[in-house]
Amino acid sequence: TKKIIVDVDTGIDDALGLLLLAHQPNVDVLGVSVVSGNISLHKAICNTHKVLDLIGLDVPIFAGANQPLVRQAFFEHAVHGDDGIGGALHDVPFIDRTEKESAWDYLIRITHDYPGEITLVLTGPMTNFALALQQDPSIAHRLKEVVFMGGAVNGNGNVTPAAEFNMYVDPEAAKLVLHSGVPLTMIGLDVTEQALMSKEDVESLKGTSYYSFIREATAIYFNVSWERNRLKEIAMHDPLAIAVAIGKPFVTTFPYYVDVETNSTLCDGQTVCDYKNGLQRTPNVHVAKHVDAKAFITDYIQHVGSR
Ligand code: BDR
Ligand code: CA
Repeated sequence: TKKIIVDVDTGIDDALGLLLLAHQPNVDVLGVSVVSGNISLHKAICNTHKVLDLIGLDVPIFAGANQPLVRQAFFEHAVHGDDGIGGALHDVPFIDRTEKESAWDYLIRITHDYPGEITLVLTGPMTNFALALQQDPSIAHRLKEVVFMGGAVNGNGNVTPAAEFNMYVDPEAAKLVLHSGVPLTMIGLDVTEQALMSKEDVESLKGTSYYSFIREATAIYFNVSWERNRLKEIAMHDPLAIAVAIGKPFVTTFPYYVDVETNSTLCDGQTVCDYKNGLQRTPNVHVAKHVDAKAFITDYIQHVGSR
């Protein structure tokens, strides 16, 4: 079985990704940690509880950073709604069972228990893992790998022309992670903007357990996708990263040296990929450049519709 820890800033697509974690044969979810990102830490914790309760996944939940390492928080309420999940599950009570241990203390401790065995998947800004690295850099050698949703190597951005949201929010954290020596797989906009779910896909879930949650949570996301990008579908950023982390073979990766900009007016948060090896550095990231989007969406709908 694959041991997984998921670090989320539970907005809409994080929530859609969490739905993949229940009832997966050969996947052992050790814990879920939460970070400020799309929305405040408190709201993200609340949403994480509600989604895990919905799917009956009883794993410990850890609170992490309530702001980026050095910058101000930057929320995306226009994309994810005031509550972060488009108003879905608003009448479900929030029964707080957050652990006392912080997200970074948990990561440091649990990697001592299972050295070399844990896959950490990051679907928000990288602040929590960066704080763990600051406290104990050797954690990089106790993780099997880190799979992260963030960045783009095709010159694309979704917050600014150059930067993807998770990188833009905490580029200092991303820099620490990129240079930590941990084996990294990058699921960036290069592939997630191709991993599109349609309204027909959602409607095909009618009659299954999570249909009304998915329909309610994604309504605002479909609207924003249309308003901003003239797209009828929504990008399944975080679900693709989680699918890859649990071992699904939907992307093809290539090794590159990747760094992130932290000191530019125009390009803060941009991931820069050394395609031509001009810097002569050892590749530090397995960059996903191709995705079988159809196979991914089919598998996603099949899994979440199986209850
Ligand atoms: C990423 O930013 C957030 O809005 C999403 O949850 C995803 O993690 C996409 O750029
Ligand atoms: Ca996210």
